[in-house]
Amino acid sequence: MADKIIYPIFDKMLSRQDKEQLLGQRGLMIWMTGLSGSGKSTVAIGVERELHRRGILCRILDGDNIRTGINAGLGFSEEDRRENIRRIAEVGKLFVQTGIVTLACFVSPTAELREMARRIIGPDDFREVYISTPLSECERRDVKGLYARARRGEVKDFTGISAPFEPPVHPDLSLDTSRLTLQEEVLAVVRLVEER
Ligand code: ADX
Repeated sequence: MADKIIYPIFDKMLSRQDKEQLLGQRGLMIWMTGLSGSGKSTVAIGVERELHRRGILCRILDGDNIRTGINAGLGFSEEDRRENIRRIAEVGKLFVQTGIVTLACFVSPTAELREMARRIIGPDDFREVYISTPLSECERRDVKGLYARARRGEVKDFTGISAPFEPPVHPDLSLDTSRLTLQEEVLAVVRLVEER
């Protein structure tokens, strides 16, 4: 092909299995979805600490961090959210294929976006965790003050207020942080990882 200018070298690199043997663990993506302020990052931080304690190497990918780094410049239009999630899924896949338990914390508001992430990462390596804290509770917490600003119309396309959130229909796990303790939530996610 005249226009072939990219030559991937995947076949010469050490395999995922080599990495997993080295680490003594299996890679997995725990994809947390939920409204802003629902508790995704808090749960992920707890899970990371608990797994670390048990000798399992983890990596958290978090909306606010990623959006100041690799995804700086992306906004919250449908198109930008899609590109946000696409890049995160591609990066996440690299971690998973290196044998790392990866915890992604992104609003990822639609079934279509989450399906794209699942497809990129591969369904066997993908677990969907819905942080189902109700909107009323997220808005009551309003940790970043963004709900108030969205209500005043200062932040547009805000998920749950002026942009849609589609709850997952069959998540692997559903956690309402207004009803459970952090420890219960953490152990439920750790169980998902251990089932692996
Ligand atoms: S996603 O929809 O593309 O998955 P992502 O998880 O990366 O979103 O970022 C969400 C975070 O960005 C929220 O927790 C919130 O702090 C902030 N944010 C700023 N503007 C918006 C908005 N319009 N909608 C949702 N979150 C927003």
